[in-house]
Amino acid sequence: MGDATRPVYLVQTQPGLGALAWSEMSTALRKPTVLAQRHVPQKDDVTLLQTASPTKELFDLRTVEDVFVLAVRAFNIAPTANGLKQIHTTVKQSPMVSSALNTYTAAGNRLPKITNFRVITRATGRQEYPRKAIGEAVADAIRDSWPGRWRLVEEDADVEVWVTLFASELVVALRLSDATMRHRGPDGGREVNRPAALRPVIAAAMVRLTDPQADDVFLDPMAGTGTLVAERAIAGPFDRLIAGDKSREAVKALTKNLQTVGGDLAIRRLDAEDLPFADGEISKIAVNLPFGKQVNHPDELTMLYQGAFREWVRVVRPGGLIVALASDIDRVREVMRLFPELRVRGNYAIGVLGQAATILLIERKNSS
Ligand SMILES: C[S@@+](CC[C@H](N)C(=O)[O-])C[C@H]1O[C@@H](n2cnc3c(N)ncnc32)[C@H](O)[C@@H]1O
Repeated sequence: MGDATRPVYLVQTQPGLGALAWSEMSTALRKPTVLAQRHVPQKDDVTLLQTASPTKELFDLRTVEDVFVLAVRAFNIAPTANGLKQIHTTVKQSPMVSSALNTYTAAGNRLPKITNFRVITRATGRQEYPRKAIGEAVADAIRDSWPGRWRLVEEDADVEVWVTLFASELVVALRLSDATMRHRGPDGGREVNRPAALRPVIAAAMVRLTDPQADDVFLDPMAGTGTLVAERAIAGPFDRLIAGDKSREAVKALTKNLQTVGGDLAIRRLDAEDLPFADGEISKIAVNLPFGKQVNHPDELTMLYQGAFREWVRVVRPGGLIVALASDIDRVREVMRLFPELRVRGNYAIGVLGQAATILLIERKNSS
């Protein structure tokens, strides 16, 4: 399995973002090799990979929420009671444990003499034993056989051991990153938070889809707390960034949250249906459309989408891109039929706080 001299990392992102995360990894990391891609339905997209880059470079990935080092990988775990015995034995005998522990400490983590560890267990597929029993089998094997002394705890662990049984494939990994990677600091790195704020990793994936270029005039016309604009600022050079929102409260939040963004940034109170920009002035739009819950009546949403798309067709230059996140994708597609100037180039089904949503990559065509 891969290059035995290098650690195997497990990285996680939000469901549906695995392919976009891999596209970032394949450009940001040195000699990346994907060993497997897996899903924990409703929870995570998981990639197992190796790279010549040092561990700390994985923490800089914007489309990834958590980084782990693999300590055990085994196949053909039985769904019958015998499976628990197999799990126990494989965790005990895994040849990857010492190097995983080395990677763990080399990444700046501590392994005290008595190491407190916590086990997080997930399972897909059907087994005759409960999920909890999988974690217990792993915990017993760790205490029995891993180097040093290990004590199972519920909280304040030195090490988080994440156990996933992907049907019959067992993966045990030690968490290297902490919550600051996932949330980019408190409240998603935002000074001011609002209820519909986007998860930074989703914003980062959307920004990647805009294909960031140095001459970008980038607009989020419904910017809320500014997550998309903040991610665009990090993604590379740009000509101009514009964060707009209709709500006064949102504009206040934007002013606070985007204060460290350098370069040409404008924060404006505006109506996405009546934009203060010339025809073709904008090259890229990334936007998180209000979900149905935020308006009173479904027709209102259709009207809003129609008005907004009409303006975006006008202000986005031919060849420009619109990346839109929506929960009600059928409504968006219906509205888009009114605009032959737009063409959908891709769509990504994702989960946003347990709710199904879609990221659409839309091109403003050159002609018509
Ligand atoms: C889903 S939230 C955006 C959240 C944002 N992506 C974030 O991470 O904070 C939708 C935003 O659209 C704004 N909005 C709704 N109708 C608008 C309109 N006609 N023009 C501009 N903004 C509008 C709301 O005020 C709200 O902030």
